[in-house]
Amino acid sequence: MQQRISPARSVSGSITLPGDKSVSHRYGMISAIAAGTTRIHNYSTGADCHSTLGCMRALGIEIEENGTEVVVHGRGLDGLRAPAAPLDAGNSGSTIRMLSGILAAQPFTTRIFGDESLSRRPMQRIMKPLAQMGARIHAREDKFPPLEIEGGALRPIEYALPVPSAQVKTCVLFAGLYAEGETSVLEPVKSRDHTEIALREFGADLTSERGRIRLAGRPRLEARELTVPSDLSSAAFFIVAALLVPGSRLSIAGVGLNPTRSALLDFLGGMGARIHVPALESVNGELVGEIVVEHSELKGGVIEGALTAAVIDEVPVLAVLGAATEEGLTVRDAGELRIKETDRIATIVTNLRRLGVEAEELPDGLIVPGRQKFRAATFDSFGDHRIAMAFAVAALRAGGESAIEGAEAASVSFPEFWDTLRAIAA
Ligand code: S3P
Repeated sequence: MQQRISPARSVSGSITLPGDKSVSHRYGMISAIAAGTTRIHNYSTGADCHSTLGCMRALGIEIEENGTEVVVHGRGLDGLRAPAAPLDAGNSGSTIRMLSGILAAQPFTTRIFGDESLSRRPMQRIMKPLAQMGARIHAREDKFPPLEIEGGALRPIEYALPVPSAQVKTCVLFAGLYAEGETSVLEPVKSRDHTEIALREFGADLTSERGRIRLAGRPRLEARELTVPSDLSSAAFFIVAALLVPGSRLSIAGVGLNPTRSALLDFLGGMGARIHVPALESVNGELVGEIVVEHSELKGGVIEGALTAAVIDEVPVLAVLGAATEEGLTVRDAGELRIKETDRIATIVTNLRRLGVEAEELPDGLIVPGRQKFRAATFDSFGDHRIAMAFAVAALRAGGESAIEGAEAASVSFPEFWDTLRAIAA
């Protein structure tokens, strides 16, 4: 599918966005192994989070859906049933990596597969700790999906994450739910902590201190009523759109502002962005607030070290923004981008060049000089949702009408993206 985008004179209005993808996955999985009926409000509308629900249904869990309200009839830690067919994780790395932690502890064997992009993404990062816990997992070429997971009794481990990855951390903690004793995970760089917050909400005994997370095995998880905050990573596209287009003022309601995600706002603020969060509240342990953003002239900056991990999903749209800043944007320590839904360093740079923007590709990042003009072009999503949306935002500032090929990819996290963009871009 192709979407055509005209330049915008301004980006303004008040919008609400779909539920956070990361939080929705976790609520979808944990509620299935909690005892009783969990009601989830504002569950993500994205295809990825529906891949998770599909897998949980295939594992014998009854799930009702009414729009974005999802009711999960949890069956307790030991209530999952052997699926009749292989599980389909679609495009979702979170589904396959996090769910594998639960599958590794089941008294049955599960096969789980994904689409072409997911079939190229590395799984050793979860296979290694799960093997240490006693699971047997077979993968294509020992590293790629499909996975065949022979579940069984697991032992607790202490695991130091070799890469900052919240998916791997979650996988180990989910497996640790089933191991007698204490499982602990050490993080060199703090990654998003939605799993820790959600497990505590459901009643697990979990502590997190100075980079070490400790979880007591075999907790009794209890059903809850939960509300998913709106997705900050989806909001990022509109925040950048408003920053880029002169005369813009946009308000985004109820956005998840968990400190492990909101470094994005501090980084933008440091470059001179006029972003304001009038008030914060806590919803099921997650910080939530309204974001008000106005067009701003930005200085430019460097993303590296811990900041890279904190804004990893926002790099595509930040790279676009970088070209319009005074001094440009440098991204380092972002080798992980090469193994996302696409090799995002390559797909960003390819599309930036189509935009008429100069950019240098580095092994672990990119350099985008500032003060560059955007020209209208035909961009390719390469099947990657965040690439499709980032270049739709770029098109708002181009000299004429642009096209995004493969625009349907946005549905993975944000099916309403195109309608929302049209509603706010004058
Ligand atoms: C996610 C963690 C990140 C992120 C992904 C969602 C999560 O991946 O890029 O979109 O929900 O835990 P990694 O764990 O591979 O860094």
